[in-house]
Amino acid sequence: MGFRVLGTGSALPARSVTNDDLSEFLDTSDEWISTRTGIHSRRICTTETLDDLALEASRQALDAAGVHADQLDLIVCSTTSGDHLMPAEACAVAELLGASCPAFDVSAACAGFVFALDVADGFIARGRASRILVVSAEKVSRLVDWTDRATCVLFGDGAAAAVIEAGGDNPLAIRLSTDPSVETLHVPGVPGSSPYDQTERPAQHLFMEGRRVFKFGVNAIVDAVTELCAEAHVAVTDVDHFVFHQANERILSSAVSRLGIDDARVARALAETGNISSACIPLALDRLVRAGELTSGQLVVLVGFGAGLDVGACLLRW
Ligand code: COA
Repeated sequence: MGFRVLGTGSALPARSVTNDDLSEFLDTSDEWISTRTGIHSRRICTTETLDDLALEASRQALDAAGVHADQLDLIVCSTTSGDHLMPAEACAVAELLGASCPAFDVSAACAGFVFALDVADGFIARGRASRILVVSAEKVSRLVDWTDRATCVLFGDGAAAAVIEAGGDNPLAIRLSTDPSVETLHVPGVPGSSPYDQTERPAQHLFMEGRRVFKFGVNAIVDAVTELCAEAHVAVTDVDHFVFHQANERILSSAVSRLGIDDARVARALAETGNISSACIPLALDRLVRAGELTSGQLVVLVGFGAGLDVGACLLRW
């Protein structure tokens, strides 16, 4: 048995930070950021907690699905930037929603939404759950070094969610993969204060080899689209929407030109959100749904990629 998506939701912090805002304290410019990344502004948490954003996105998804929190059998959250190291962000969402089902997090960085969807699908396949909330929530602004112009300009905060239900034939195809490399893109863990710890304690900031991630991202999209469509016996030209991780406009346009796909079918949200890690894909989906552009029966390919280096990709019939 597979699943169908009943409803989606999303939430962003109120504060929009433009490229010009960043150039007030960084040696950068709107011209550099816009042309190298396609990002013009990003939403950054000021008074909002990540719990607030995750709750709002989840409430919207439940409303759209017509499902009450006490009807949920499971809550899976994807995050690497939760408000608490423990318990899981999903536990905070459960408490705030008044749900009493099991709740836990999946950590697969920017590929997290598809990994979480696959975990949820496994619970459905084993008959352990029939209604599941999958929520991706990220406060990347707490992970980046705000003096590093090569990384902090790329990211933003936000959350997005989907409620899925047993039934239907999704996913038509799904692929998860890891090309293991911690060094390429990572955030060190909490250093702690153990008097016994003699290991190195690196700076508590996101580190990234930008060029390596760029090439990895383009290849991830091209390979995933080709392989998923072949596996499901679907022509790439028959896919109605492509929802790729929103890391950099140049990654999207390189993949589009290598695949030869119709650019109008490729979802874009990053100009005003930046890279919100695992929340990028469900947020773009929610926007398509609310704009009436993603409708029942259409085919949509999701491809997330990032630290790990993880790739999570799937083909869904909406
Ligand atoms: N403003 C101005 N100059 C900047 C800058 C900024 N915000 N960030 C970097 N630069 C400078 C660099 O210092 C470098 O200067 P130098 O030539 O004097 O040394 C120059 O711009 C070129 O840097 P480079 O890193 O080669 O640029 P790039 O074209 O590769 O673009 C990224 C950098 C980060 C935008 C690009 O590599 C990228 O998007 N990679 C993928 C990152 C990503 O998406 N990560 C998350 C994936 S989940």
